[in-house]
Amino acid sequence: MRVAVIGAGVIGLSTAICIHDQYHLTHQPLEIEVYADRFTPHTTSDGAAGLWQPYLYDKGNAQETLWNKETFDYLLEHINSPEAQEMGLFLLSGYNLFTQPVPDPSWKDNVLGFRNLTQKELELFPGYSYGWFNTALMLEGKTYLPWLTNRLKARGVKFFHQKINSFQELMAQGVDVIINCTGVRAGELQPDPELRPGRGQVIKVEAPWVKHFIITHDTESGIYNSPYIIPGSQRVTLGGTFQLGNWNEENSSRDHRNIWQGCCQLLPSLQKAKIVDEWTGLRPARPKVRLQRDVVRHGLLQSEVIHNYGHGGFGITIHWGCALEAARLFGRVLEDRQRPKPCHAKL
Ligand SMILES: Cc1cc2nc3c(=O)[nH]c(=O)nc-3n(C[C@H](O)[C@H](O)[C@H](O)COP(=O)(O)OP(=O)(O)OC[C@H]3O[C@@H](n4cnc5c(N)ncnc54)[C@H](O)[C@@H]3O)c2cc1C
Ligand SMILES: *[C@@H]1O[C@H](CO)[C@@H](O)[C@H](O)[C@H]1NC(C)=O
Ligand SMILES: *[C@@H]1O[C@H](CO)[C@@H](O)[C@H](O)[C@H]1NC(C)=O
Ligand SMILES: *[C@@H]1O[C@H](CO)[C@@H](O)[C@H](O)[C@H]1NC(C)=O
Repeated sequence: MRVAVIGAGVIGLSTAICIHDQYHLTHQPLEIEVYADRFTPHTTSDGAAGLWQPYLYDKGNAQETLWNKETFDYLLEHINSPEAQEMGLFLLSGYNLFTQPVPDPSWKDNVLGFRNLTQKELELFPGYSYGWFNTALMLEGKTYLPWLTNRLKARGVKFFHQKINSFQELMAQGVDVIINCTGVRAGELQPDPELRPGRGQVIKVEAPWVKHFIITHDTESGIYNSPYIIPGSQRVTLGGTFQLGNWNEENSSRDHRNIWQGCCQLLPSLQKAKIVDEWTGLRPARPKVRLQRDVVRHGLLQSEVIHNYGHGGFGITIHWGCALEAARLFGRVLEDRQRPKPCHAKL
């Protein structure tokens, strides 16, 4: 059984690990290959702050809420292990701020200690009249991706630095199952009008005195289009923008100015912070994650495909639940192959 995973962001690497862990003992030989044109530290998953926080409301998409929760619980199990440090995993508390009362989020019982802000806390943030406090997790891509990569290499998974231009390339090489974890560029391989870039620019600063995340919400400008501050293990990430349909990966000086002004207004001590980096990435935005089986045919060639892309601004938050689901789908492909083929009518 030859499996090709396309994509080496958090989604591709975690899916490869899940499939290997669940099936390598029962399905020998199981050859897993990872193909990507960008590896850590050059993927979207590396630039993300890495905070576990879904969008505020799941809009009835109970499956994504479950995958988010599975990811939180899986990570929480690792928080007290020595490996947490190598994974880039730690607890982080902080604030979500609003200008008006809003319903509790769908994930309030997943995180730790979710509560409404007190009047005294709100006084810290002029201009905001409502908010939440909770403890969540940070999983930093720049640390987690190398950790996943090393584990995959130790399991004999092979890595290929190349762009895949069509599924046929892999089918012609005799790959049995293709796992499609191509993020925002999935549409190049098979058009998907529902998939669009959600451009995000961030400034990274040195400000070791910042110990809490602060995320503001503006119902008019939409998710992540208002100031946010997320401290990481080394640097603090300042945002935010979420520009739907904008493919530009260059830093914009206008966005830089807006982010800097907005964050300094929210937390004036940032004026003394040293800017150390800037980054622009494209969130793979989609009305919902595409996680399903598919068959692609080309002439006489045919291959099973499992799609796992479109994780928007919450790819790190949801990755493990999605990897488990992709592995379940892979298990069904194996079952279907083992089932005896229906007898063809004899001539
Ligand atoms: C500014 C910003 C901040 C964010 N902050 C957070 C956060 O705090 N928490 C959170 O949960 N999420 C956050 N996100 C979202 C998160 O980064 C994404 O959801 C996640 O990285 C998507 O992972 P992925 O593996 O699908 O894509 P990527 O990390 O983009 O990986 C895609 C992979 O596919 C490969 N690829 C694509 N097409 C081809 C091809 N044709 N041939 C070969 N290889 C190909 C690429 O080379 C790459 O390896 C943020 C995003 C941005 C932009
Ligand atoms: C927060 O307050 C609102 C009303 O203002 C209430 O409906 C909600 O249940 C409260 N949430 C929590 C977690 O206490
Ligand atoms: C991966 O999914 C994207 C989005 O539909 C699609 O464009 C691309 O063709 C898929 N790649 C493969 C190999 O199926
Ligand atoms: C964005 O700015 C950073 C820091 O100056 C730089 O390293 C990076 O190359 C810039 N991005 C692009 C696409 O120019």
